[in-house]
Amino acid sequence: MAIRNPEIKYNQLFINNEFVDAVDGKTFPVINPATEEVICHVAQAESADVDLAVKAARAAFSSDSPWRTMNASDRGALMHKLCDLLERDTNYLASLDTLDNGKPFTESLGDMEYSIKTIRYYAGWCDKIHGDTVPCDGPYMCLTRREPVGVVGQVIPWNYPAMMLAWKWGPALATGCTVVLKPAELTPLSALYIAALAKEAGFPPGVVNVVPGLGLGAGQAVSHHPDIDKVAFTGSTAVGRKVMEAASTSNLKRVTMELGGKSPVVVCEDCGDLNSAAELCHAAMFNNHGQNCCAGSRTFVHESIYDEFVKKAVQLAQKRPVGDPFDEATLQGPQVSQLQMERILGYIIKGKEEGATLMCGGSRHGNKGYYVQPTVFSNVTDNMTIAMEEIFGPVQIILKFKTLDEAIKRSNETHYGLASGIVTSDINKALMYAQAVRAGSVWINCYDLCLPQTPFGGYKQSGHGRELGEEGLDEYLETKTILIKV
Ligand code: TAP
Repeated sequence: MAIRNPEIKYNQLFINNEFVDAVDGKTFPVINPATEEVICHVAQAESADVDLAVKAARAAFSSDSPWRTMNASDRGALMHKLCDLLERDTNYLASLDTLDNGKPFTESLGDMEYSIKTIRYYAGWCDKIHGDTVPCDGPYMCLTRREPVGVVGQVIPWNYPAMMLAWKWGPALATGCTVVLKPAELTPLSALYIAALAKEAGFPPGVVNVVPGLGLGAGQAVSHHPDIDKVAFTGSTAVGRKVMEAASTSNLKRVTMELGGKSPVVVCEDCGDLNSAAELCHAAMFNNHGQNCCAGSRTFVHESIYDEFVKKAVQLAQKRPVGDPFDEATLQGPQVSQLQMERILGYIIKGKEEGATLMCGGSRHGNKGYYVQPTVFSNVTDNMTIAMEEIFGPVQIILKFKTLDEAIKRSNETHYGLASGIVTSDINKALMYAQAVRAGSVWINCYDLCLPQTPFGGYKQSGHGRELGEEGLDEYLETKTILIKV
């Protein structure tokens, strides 16, 4: 059951297992995007606060600390304990994310369930991470050890507040790292509450620290910090570039990043039931109000079924329930902020100016809250801005193609490479596409399945490294080689 006005229990920084004010006492307002009202003010971390958090994380990482000397299986048990508490407080946490982000409560509940699964998946890995014995030349024996990379900075976006935390904390904690997390300024509330649960579960001080603040303050301080060993970033490609630059000019910290996308979904003439294909593409685009890095934001449809498909896509968009995110019937709440709403509306204007046909939507929905009408464009060509840039909103772009070769070529004509999809009843065609498309994920007759067990990440300018699955662990590990003369 949703809690419409969840009490805000924590609005300070979480450092060394304590909630504290920012050193300079600064705070920033957090806005409810459905009402445009201030929910609360949250302590605003700057570089002095990030320093304190890094010191705590570094102390918690020292070789004689409770965290480093803990049995790996006990580390797993602690992570499971955190999941038990997340389960206990799921309704509260989902309500917080709905209040803070505007996503429908049912979707926030789904995010929580998935977050818990992700942390449990990684909890299971704790005592299964090990090195090798390596045959080598000479009178030597070689052992390798997989060791935690150290203190990790994690900078996350606002589109999946609790879930992005779970994706980041799962592998970091399983490998024995310590964490300084900067949540997005727009959605800091669930991260602070989860930090309190980590303390309740029994994580030693300094293992997890949460420093809400602005990208240009706390975010920059994390990416430039000389004593952070690795930074994991999720967000825009533009900021990802800055984070990499900061890593290179500070201490060459390891960097992984999950960035933007403009992901193609190809609907072939043999897609089977056209209704199902249209529904799949609708969900691929409109889930989470289009605020999804792997949104299927370029729908390619075979010319023989194009007109019929567009008709169905428009019907689906027109009947999508937009409204109060706490209402169970709602599938689309407000966009996360006024700035995002305005960016999306700007893209819609550009689409019309550049000659695409606006089939439905196209405006703000209502006049309170940052709502955008579900929007569909047809007759879109590859060179239009709306076909090239990440809109990050509820705007479906439908393009026409003739042959699979052409669809492959056009799918790849982007500097992004995060995800892709194909809808067809011909497995050979599907596999041919899967092999040829330059993207980190390919979904065949499904879309947006990021499972805890399966690696996820981008080709090209959509990112570096992988999250989730066993590969997600590698990004938080160093390999130490030990040679023994025998
Ligand atoms: P970003 O600015 O990239 O924000 C992501 C995170 O980085 C936030 O925590 C942000 O903090 C922080 N950040 C901002 N500037 C930073 C800097 N110079 N150094 C270190 N950290 C910094 O994304 P946004 O402004 O929220 O959204 C803009 C666009 O980015 C969206 O329209 C969308 O296209 C894309 N985006 C993509 C994703 C994914 S999952 N790929 C997620 C969100 C947004 P603050 O929030 O406090 O600024």
